[in-house]
Amino acid sequence: MAVENASGRALRVGIAGLGTVGVGVVRLLEENRDILLQHCPWPIEVTAVSARDRRKNRDVDLSKYDWCDDPVALADHPKVDVVVEVIGGASGPAKALIEKAIANKKHVVTANKALLSAHGTALARSAEQAGLALAYEAAVAGGIPIIKSMREGLAANRIEHVYGILNGTCNYILTQMRETGREFADVLGEAQQLGYAEADPSFDVDGIDAAHKLSILTAVAFGCEVDFAGIRISGIRNVSAMDIEYATELGYRIKLLGLSRLTERGIEQRVHACMVPQNALIAKVDGVYNAVVTQGNFVGQNVAIGRGAGQGPTASAVVSDLMDIARGRILPAFSAPAETLKKIPAAPEGSHVGPFYLRMMVVDRPGVIAEVAAIMRDENVSLESMIQRSRSPGDRVPVVFTTHETSQAQVTRVVEKLGKVSAVVEPPHVMSIEQLS
Ligand code: HSE
Repeated sequence: MAVENASGRALRVGIAGLGTVGVGVVRLLEENRDILLQHCPWPIEVTAVSARDRRKNRDVDLSKYDWCDDPVALADHPKVDVVVEVIGGASGPAKALIEKAIANKKHVVTANKALLSAHGTALARSAEQAGLALAYEAAVAGGIPIIKSMREGLAANRIEHVYGILNGTCNYILTQMRETGREFADVLGEAQQLGYAEADPSFDVDGIDAAHKLSILTAVAFGCEVDFAGIRISGIRNVSAMDIEYATELGYRIKLLGLSRLTERGIEQRVHACMVPQNALIAKVDGVYNAVVTQGNFVGQNVAIGRGAGQGPTASAVVSDLMDIARGRILPAFSAPAETLKKIPAAPEGSHVGPFYLRMMVVDRPGVIAEVAAIMRDENVSLESMIQRSRSPGDRVPVVFTTHETSQAQVTRVVEKLGKVSAVVEPPHVMSIEQLS
């Protein structure tokens, strides 16, 4: 079923933002025009564009499109049926444009995970009340069609958990650290020089970007409101080359994962570096690749792997949303209608239970291990293994413990107590071990 639009001939698109993604969308619509015409009832035509600098060379001919200096003007443009928002930012012009577009009865396609993680529920409500699409395949894991997959192909399942590698920059850095034995700061610096990491890398390396994406996946998976504030977030700055070496020795890989699970005590959403068995499917996803794993009660485990960023993958996701609109396939943004999305509380802080890795630097002298082990005993933490093989009397040596099932709260108390032991010379490095397959 084709969408009714004012021209009756084409789905007319206004693009706000002509950076990598916006230009990619223009290029894809031009270069794959024949493919799109084959699949869509009506052609998808760019009619208007907006960006900050009109004179910038973007290696693509924009002269045939109306130019708007103000992106919000696209929401009033008479020859625009769909606004593509690829400006970014959780507020400012991106939010103003989307709100106005919906008010003016224009569909919205966005790649803006920060905005959706802050305002997704409210925007989905207004779009659905107006019978409009709020589509955002590009916002989560770039080229991986995970929103479509969860909202359509897996929609008949009760989703038990969803987790993934949701940030290519972190995955690239961790992969490089493992392959070269170098430290985080060194690899980050090189990644910045090569253009793989931003000049200000904090959104990526501190886990914020992955958490934005996880908050969206959680809403789709569990039919709940988007709850970014409920996510426990840490990044990869504290992962050291030594931890990566120990992980390998213990049979694990270190990955920055976003994990979401519905528990009896609420939704557990976590973004942090963790150890995963080296034979798990996700352990083998290296470099800039993303992966999303879902577990449905009838389908079982489903794994999707692909490029999470870049011009081609992101444009592919944006245009697939445009094709859905051109085909008249307009589904509720978070799969369940926005009015029915549940407000599920976050699981209590520290409630996650699983094995943990603790690596500490201790003074090599008699009785230190006994002191550390006594703290574990007092907190009822059961040890699975211990590695201490360096010998450096009176000097610092690393000691590694892995635990049996332990709660995050127990581990936090252990770490607090270890901080008071004079022989433990720096804060322990702690990572959960996720027993994934
Ligand atoms: N900066 C992100 C990443 C891509 O490194 O995966 C856009 O979200």
